[in-house]
Amino acid sequence: MAEIAKVNPGKQQPAADADAAARPHGQYPRTRMRRNRRDDWNRRLVSENAVSVNDLIWPLFVHDRDEAVPIPSMPDVSRLSVDGAVKAAEQAAELGIPVVAVFPAVEPELKNAEGAEATNPNNIVCKTVRAISQAVPEVGVMCDVALDPFTSHGHDGLIRDDYVVNDETVAVLCQQALLQAQAGCHIISPSDMMDGRIGAIRDCLDGNGFDDVRIMAYSAKYASAFYGPFRDAVGSGTYLGKADKKTYQMDPGNTDEAMREIALDLAEGADMVMVKPGMPYLDIVRRVKDEFGVPTFAYQVSGEYSMLAGAAERGWMDGERVMMESLLSFKRAGADGILTYFAAKAATLLRGG
Ligand code: PBG
Repeated sequence: MAEIAKVNPGKQQPAADADAAARPHGQYPRTRMRRNRRDDWNRRLVSENAVSVNDLIWPLFVHDRDEAVPIPSMPDVSRLSVDGAVKAAEQAAELGIPVVAVFPAVEPELKNAEGAEATNPNNIVCKTVRAISQAVPEVGVMCDVALDPFTSHGHDGLIRDDYVVNDETVAVLCQQALLQAQAGCHIISPSDMMDGRIGAIRDCLDGNGFDDVRIMAYSAKYASAFYGPFRDAVGSGTYLGKADKKTYQMDPGNTDEAMREIALDLAEGADMVMVKPGMPYLDIVRRVKDEFGVPTFAYQVSGEYSMLAGAAERGWMDGERVMMESLLSFKRAGADGILTYFAAKAATLLRGG
């Protein structure tokens, strides 16, 4: 203002400048947040977070049948044959999606109370992993470790006296993980929430020469109703019936407990940690990233997917836009990557259609 005073001696200052002294520095109208939003180039310049294809993990459902069978509660998602899963992995490679995750829908006659099929080296998971890792070696393959797709009661572990027992279950999970590693799985992903399973699986893998196989721990996994469509997809829902998983999965109200779970899994040797479900738990994702600074993943689970895809199917929301906005929310919360049934669709859109 001194300059103006010199050039125009004695001239009255404009009203806005006269107000300047009275108003705290930097407020409206000098500061106009909308300036940086005015043009597309400017919006791109100041954007803080973005979704990249490198952030995506694509979950695939497989079954031991020749045809793909659509999953009614998950629009555009099917249970695939082994060949279908290989084709999906080829599509992932072509799109640049780093990892596919294999989930089995096991035939009812192969399920029993002990989940014995989980430790059959020729089960549908191992067959699929062998086929994908041979045909598409450039794509990472991830496998869930838990017994629920294989048990006749739909629980993730063994039941003794009406309780899902911990240590006996962990011993079986180690065998399951080892078989998956032998089949060619790159990332073992325990989703069962038993105590001590990360350390036990790490030791088992290392003891058998699989020290390069990575572990992504479902560390903070909540007892959530958002898994409903997944349980239809793998066929565990009808077996689980009205039972719930509250004796091993976390209470949705808890946050500090999630930090303890993460700390334990890291101490036991987890390479990457996960929060699940995703969108209803973004506060947990942020806290994990801030407090631990480790590779942090979020699972946009089946119910979240179906909520968006189902509404889009009815024309209630713009499907592509809500898909990308939901994925972006994970990045903003601090996630390094996202497991999402939208992976192929999002990657296609990111590539430009
Ligand atoms: C199995 C498992 C579940 C999911 C991933 N692994 C279901 C469950 O714990 O009941 C849910 C994934 C989804 O809903 O998309 N332990």
